[in-house]
Amino acid sequence: PLVTTKDMFKKAYEGGYAIGAFNVNNMEIVQGITEAAKEVNAPLILQVSSGARKYANHTYLMKLVEAAIIETGLPICLHLDHGDTFELCKSCIDGGFTSVMIDGSHHSFKENMKLTKQVVDYAHDKGVVVEAELGKLAGIEDAVNVSEKDAAFTDPDEVEEFVKTTGVDSLAIAIGTSHGAFKFKGEPKLRFDILEEISKRLPQFPIVLHGASSVIPEYVEMINKFGGDMPGAQGVPEDMLRKAASMAVCKINIDSDLRLALTGTIRKYFAENPSHFDPRQYLSPARAAIKDLVKKKIVNVLGCDNKA
Ligand code: G3H
Ligand code: 13P
Ligand code: ZN
Ligand code: NA
Repeated sequence: PLVTTKDMFKKAYEGGYAIGAFNVNNMEIVQGITEAAKEVNAPLILQVSSGARKYANHTYLMKLVEAAIIETGLPICLHLDHGDTFELCKSCIDGGFTSVMIDGSHHSFKENMKLTKQVVDYAHDKGVVVEAELGKLAGIEDAVNVSEKDAAFTDPDEVEEFVKTTGVDSLAIAIGTSHGAFKFKGEPKLRFDILEEISKRLPQFPIVLHGASSVIPEYVEMINKFGGDMPGAQGVPEDMLRKAASMAVCKINIDSDLRLALTGTIRKYFAENPSHFDPRQYLSPARAAIKDLVKKKIVNVLGCDNKA
């Protein structure tokens, strides 16, 4: 069934694991992710950015996810990733999503609260849950491009007032992750002390980690070997994600790793089969790579296998 994250997050918090939130843009991505989750019996969040909605169209994505629910029988949450306006959130709520993110992190604290509360009031009326964000991640957040110098860690002193005033269901925080395939120049470092402090202020409250791809070296190497050019790509080490999942983090967002697996596999396929031009030939191994990656994430990193 199509579900909210309420139950998923409660169990994840208590069980010391996290649910994977994977970005979807087309049929092969939906299939790869959901087939993996089915094989390891994992609850799942599929998320759609405004860019994905522009690319594939709301109804197509909705129907692909409905098809995946019929095929797998899994509890799946359909979530708007980085909604930036009330209107966009409303459109997704009215259109059948069970969860939305209102990302007011580029506004002032007061404006962020006001916008978040407006979305929460509308969403809760319709049984939809809401994620908000405090603090700024470096990198590209859909419409919002935050440069490294403007990035800011979440201030633990702000979280209680924010959550109480808005009534939001989960909170994305900034502790050193960023979007995309180039997350750290030197040694990866996350501020687990800030996460710890936030969870003290918000007991039992689910925290969300964006920018959590590991930028799997195997796929970066594959891309670079077969004509790509991504020097210095680096992500969040898996042991850090395991640590976050064992703490208050209940949702871990992954998009870049899917893109890298898809692109690496297709580049390799074309290099090895230069005469092929049937999309089913190169999209089959690409879909299989996504499935393999998601299965490994669920079992080795998130720990949500057999929790559906
Ligand atoms: O937050 C970024 C996600 O990876 C979605 O990316 O806006 O290019 O679809 P996108
Ligand atoms: P990555 O770029 O690390 O995959 O992060 C995705 C994300 O946070 C989507 O909201
Ligand atoms: Zn994000
Ligand atoms: Na957790």
